[in-house]
Amino acid sequence: MSLVRRASWEKRHRDAAPGPPEPCLLELLPVIPPGLALDIAAGTGRNAIALARAGFRVVAADYSVAAMRTVGRLAALEHLPIFPLITDLEESFPFRHAVFDLVVNISYLDRRLVPQLKRALRIGGVLLFDTFTIAQLPLGHPHDPKFMLQHDELRAILADMEMLHYREGLTTYASGRQAWRATALARRIA
Ligand SMILES: C[S@@+](CC[C@H](N)C(=O)[O-])C[C@H]1O[C@@H](n2cnc3c(N)ncnc32)[C@H](O)[C@@H]1O
Repeated sequence: MSLVRRASWEKRHRDAAPGPPEPCLLELLPVIPPGLALDIAAGTGRNAIALARAGFRVVAADYSVAAMRTVGRLAALEHLPIFPLITDLEESFPFRHAVFDLVVNISYLDRRLVPQLKRALRIGGVLLFDTFTIAQLPLGHPHDPKFMLQHDELRAILADMEMLHYREGLTTYASGRQAWRATALARRIA
């Protein structure tokens, strides 16, 4: 675990409010039946809040204390069933096998975690995975290519699942900002 990186996230999350949910989440929510969701590396909860408003119970996990405090405060304000959990996902993955109906991994890439994300899903549960691709590199954020998916990498990583939706391309946000990303919605079948 990099203490410098963690401290930098802590600083970024202090006093930050969640922005709008990732567009792919809003697009795909109508085809995902509500249930128990796990939002990993949830940040200040923009996606967890959208899920809870749509009827999910959500465990939001992140190692930032500030981010998890914000999630807890916002959930309490709206009486949303979101359960913040402070955990370093590089050190431990404190979730039981086959319990979640949905696992969400947005704007976070730790390839070693993928088998655990799959195992956390019940059979028939779905994984929504969306993050930057290597096409994003010239645009400058993120800076480190290790946090970007190679072309078709996400499809390969999830080859043992039933792919319900797959897209690689340019996402345009309401702000006008654009980003190269890959999105997959995949069902656990075994
Ligand atoms: C780019 S943000 C994405 C946040 C959220 N998924 C979203 O889409 O808004 C990445 C998040 O990963 C968290 N993070 C980074 N490394 C982590 C780790 N080892 N364990 C838990 N959380 C981590 C950071 O604190 C940050 O909130």
